[in-house]
Amino acid sequence: MANASRGQWSGRLGFILAAAGSAVGLGNIWRFPYMAGENGGGAFVLLYLACVLLIGLPVLFSELAMGRKTERNAVGAFRALVPNTWWPAVGYLGIAAGFGILAFYSVVAGWTLGYLGHAVLGDFGAAMTAEQSNALFTSLIGSPTQAIAYTAGFLLLTILIVRGGVSSGIERAAKILMPALLAILIVLAVRSVTLPGGMEGLSYLLKPDFSKMTAGSVMAALGQALFSLSLGMGAMVTYGSYFPKRENMPFAGAMVAVADTSIAILAGLIMFPALFSAGLDPAAGPGLVFVVLPTVFNSLPAGTLFAIAFYALLAIAALTSTISLLEVVVAYFVDERGWKREKAAWVLGSVCFLIAVPSALSQGGADVFTSFLFDTSFLDIQNIIWGNYALSIGALATCLFVGWKWTVGKGLESLEASGHVMPLRSAWAFVVRFLSPIAIAIVLGYIVLTGQYF
Ligand code: PHE
Repeated sequence: MANASRGQWSGRLGFILAAAGSAVGLGNIWRFPYMAGENGGGAFVLLYLACVLLIGLPVLFSELAMGRKTERNAVGAFRALVPNTWWPAVGYLGIAAGFGILAFYSVVAGWTLGYLGHAVLGDFGAAMTAEQSNALFTSLIGSPTQAIAYTAGFLLLTILIVRGGVSSGIERAAKILMPALLAILIVLAVRSVTLPGGMEGLSYLLKPDFSKMTAGSVMAALGQALFSLSLGMGAMVTYGSYFPKRENMPFAGAMVAVADTSIAILAGLIMFPALFSAGLDPAAGPGLVFVVLPTVFNSLPAGTLFAIAFYALLAIAALTSTISLLEVVVAYFVDERGWKREKAAWVLGSVCFLIAVPSALSQGGADVFTSFLFDTSFLDIQNIIWGNYALSIGALATCLFVGWKWTVGKGLESLEASGHVMPLRSAWAFVVRFLSPIAIAIVLGYIVLTGQYF
């Protein structure tokens, strides 16, 4: 079944960087800090860590095992393992989710390009009031031409990398972008923590305030863990399918989770000290990095450089994630439909752009999309459908599949195919069969019943 033309990572490091690139994204740097800010800081961080350990990691290994065994995309993996069943439907849902997420994620990723442009022009060097910052944000995301152009630009970058192939496109980009990302992160975190008053922000992030914890924060933490680790839509099945047979998969998988989690925390270490130092509210919600941070930059020494580095960081993190989203869809068309990678990347990337246009226009650009359904914007609806529901359903189905249909023994065989033993193997087996599916089912039931999403 080994299929040389599909491509492979050059080794363990290539996989770790590419898969960590998929995992580390707007979810870590934009979503994680504002969610922690809204849910009591340290308490949320603890909950999040528990979710990564007890649910995220087991699902991650389930997906990697399926990909490695079959050397197939999200749909093909199910087809290869259990032909003539309805299970490949789970893979199709994953492909749809990849498309759906890419179509709104690239819009927000596009904003980072716009902000990077403003930072380079020195627009964050002067004092900016909250109103001015808000006005800048509203006009950037509300301008049809800007929003569409930035989205197109971001998708174009994504297509150009994915068309290059697994090792010479995706892996090569990750090997340049991920070290750059880590360097910027560390410099910014050190800068932020050492600001006057920065320590207060640090303790906000690290000291749990359990009184702020609600059932909603538990749900939010689990949803965030799935989204942040790129689970539930076949990205890790696909990336696992390019994993070289001789390499140590349990180690590589664990490294991806460690990298993703540490980078989320590092992002918090950048955000909260800077906010506390400037006397701003950490619970500002989704506007945190786009509306709140610009009011902070000028009060920081070397604020313009800080701003450029920060938005470059966001753009890089987002790019390595959009690459994996497009790759999930491209891999399906290459494996199952015999398309050439080049054609798949251009055609699917362009179709995705068309689906992204309503989202790009939904933040003030066009009224129909701004309040599309239930007073919610097209972009938010896409996020709820694909980013929340589809991922939870996909992760639940993956656990049930690996735990009960394919069986954990086969999963372990695949994870250990190189002869490297999977640590805590029976704990993994237990969690995949019982704990993870039950926990995810509770979350799904909760969001369906309350109409709440993460
Ligand atoms: N993990 C990415 C992030 O944290 C988002 C993503 C989700 C990417 C699902 C691929 C698949 O931003």
